[in-house]
Parts: sequence; structure tokens; C-alpha cells
Amino acid sequence: MIFDLFRHKQLITLGQRDIHNHLLPGVDDGFKTPEDSIRAIEKMVQHGVKQIVFTPHMNPDVYPNESEAHFREVFDKFQPQVNDILPPPLKGTEGVLSLAAEYMVVNNFEKRVAEHADELLTYPDGSILIEMSYFFRSRNFEDAIFELNMAGLRPIIAHPERYLYMVDSLSDYDRWIDMGARLQMNYLSLTGQYGEASMKILRHLLSHGMYSFVATDLHSNAQLDRILTSKVDSKLLSQLPKGD
Ligand SMILES: [Fe+2]
Repeated sequence: MIFDLFRHKQLITLGQRDIHNHLLPGVDDGFKTPEDSIRAIEKMVQHGVKQIVFTPHMNPDVYPNESEAHFREVFDKFQPQVNDILPPPLKGTEGVLSLAAEYMVVNNFEKRVAEHADELLTYPDGSILIEMSYFFRSRNFEDAIFELNMAGLRPIIAHPERYLYMVDSLSDYDRWIDMGARLQMNYLSLTGQYGEASMKILRHLLSHGMYSFVATDLHSNAQLDRILTSKVDSKLLSQLPKGD
């Protein structure tokens, strides 16, 4: 469409707090080494990021031997290494780095929530990041939202625009928000790289003010470079949630 040629585009700017990324090295499909991760963190800080919450994948179907205790151990070891490269006033400041996790809503996840909510890695305010597969919907997704709320943990749904099978069920996002969930968009989704269905979901959620957070969901330095160099539709950027 000729109109698109004149549509204004601009660079993405990162928010001050990144609540979703795979920067904790060596535990999932994200950053492999502390050096790679530190390189990304340095660049993020140069671009104005002041707080980073690490959210490694917790998915027993893919990483059956992973545990919250192991994530904590890796985080405790990695945190001082990151602190070394932080500039003042971030260096040594409480809360600049913290640990949560991205929980895949697998079968029986809601039972784990009901029985062992205290084991789960949450954000400092008690919110918790959850996701579904990109290929199929979790049958127990609403049960999980319900049980998390019952346990006092407020769910944040990771990248709803990446669940392409939801494109004809957009009203379900309203229901999940009504149930107490909040939505988190990925910066890279703005570039259109996940296809037309993803853009349709994203435009719907943005134009209705349904996102509460935007995050990098960073898995590599290449992705960070893509976020920082992609020009995207200014109108979409103007609809991002504020204050995040
Ligand atoms: Fe993620």
C-alpha cells in the first residue's frame, strides 16, 4: 500500500526495567556464557535500562532437571560478576538485579501452584511470569490463572502476540485480564518478524490498551542488536504502556 511508504517509523527505545529475558547464562536456550550475557547487559545499561529481572525458562517438559534452587545458585554466582561492570549509581544498589522465572503452563502446573506456591520464583511484588507453547494452547491455562490468584501470585502472561492460534479468540485475552492477569509484549514483535497473525493480535492488544509491560525476552546479543536497530511504526510505539 502506497500509504505505508510514508508511514513514520522510528527506533525502539528500551524501558528502564526489563522484566523478561534469558540473560541468566547457561540454564536454558538463552545466553550460553557469562561473557555474552555481560556484553548484553552493558549495552542495555548504556541504553537506559536500570533494573533487570532474570526470567529463565521453567519448563519440566524441556528441562526436566531444572529447579528453582539451581536458578538461585546460578544467580547468586552471576550477580557479583554483573555488579562489577555496572556504572554508579547502579553498582551495589539493591534491586537492580533480581531473579524470577518464566513458567510454561504444562500439564498439572496448576496443581503445583495449589500445593507448592511458596517454591515458585516470582517478581519482588509477588507477580509471576507464565507462558504457553507457540503451537498449542494449554488446556489448563485458566485453571493456572485461577490457582495463581488463589495463591496470591498475580500472573503476567508473556508475549500474548506470539500465540498465533489465538488470533480468532481475542476476547479470551479480555477474560484473562478480567481474571486478574496482565499482558507483557515483546519488543521484537513490533518488527513484524512473527508474521501477520502476530501483528493482528499485537495491534488489537495495543490499540485497546491491554498490555501492562514491554520486555526484551532476550536470548542473544543478535536479538538485542535487532531490537536496537529496527525501525518500527511510530503509531504502535506511541501505544506502548507507559511507566515501565
Ligand atoms: Fe521468554
